[in-house]
Amino acid sequence: MVAKGGCMSTEHGLSIITGVTRREFLAVAGGVAITAAFAGSPHVARAAAPHLLPPLPYADNALDPVISANTISFHYGKHHKGYVDNLNKLIAGTEFADMPLEKIVSATAGKPDKGAIFNNAAQTWNHTFYWQSLKPKGGGEPPAALKQKIEAAFGSLEAFKKELANAAVTQFASGWAWLVKDGDKLKVMKTGNADTPITQSLKPLLTIDVWEHAYYLDYQNRRADYVNAVIEKLLNWEFAAENLVKA
Ligand SMILES: [Fe+2]
Repeated sequence: MVAKGGCMSTEHGLSIITGVTRREFLAVAGGVAITAAFAGSPHVARAAAPHLLPPLPYADNALDPVISANTISFHYGKHHKGYVDNLNKLIAGTEFADMPLEKIVSATAGKPDKGAIFNNAAQTWNHTFYWQSLKPKGGGEPPAALKQKIEAAFGSLEAFKKELANAAVTQFASGWAWLVKDGDKLKVMKTGNADTPITQSLKPLLTIDVWEHAYYLDYQNRRADYVNAVIEKLLNWEFAAENLVKA
């Protein structure tokens, strides 16, 4: 069922806003990019767009200087919004029109004839998860229970950070690096393009977007600098710990 009229916490930890009216949504969001997102198309946003761009969990300049407001304006305001808009266009009038986002992702994964819907649905999901994986003044030490799990899986927090950075830097072309729970164990993985661990019965705890649009304006081709700065200064360990409890 698609939740109507508010935030919906999904099994994978996302708070996704679905089915709210444009007026309600703008009242919740109050953000610059979001207002722009629906300017000029209220009918589409209200009547034929069950999936809405969730508000950023912080101000657009809150991650500066690691990620600038300029990057956020394109990454969130253009790319993430674009995935949501494309998804709504692609599913209008189809069997996917009333499905929750995660169900669309799982129902279209691995089906070449549904590739466009999968890509836009998965990218919508991945980006919402990414914004929550970051926070201003993040990084540092995970909460104790999560730290213990990380040490059990990787040997130490430092070893985990190196493995996550390595996955992020070595992902060829576009994709994502993840900390996931696989059964009872934590592991690091990477996925290409829009691919997402939620199609593999894995529970994501954190992610880093390594598409060039995530860092190019601030770091040009220096992906490693972006990745290391995100790990040290922006990772939202509380979000990961919440996901671990739910997983
Ligand atoms: Fe992205």
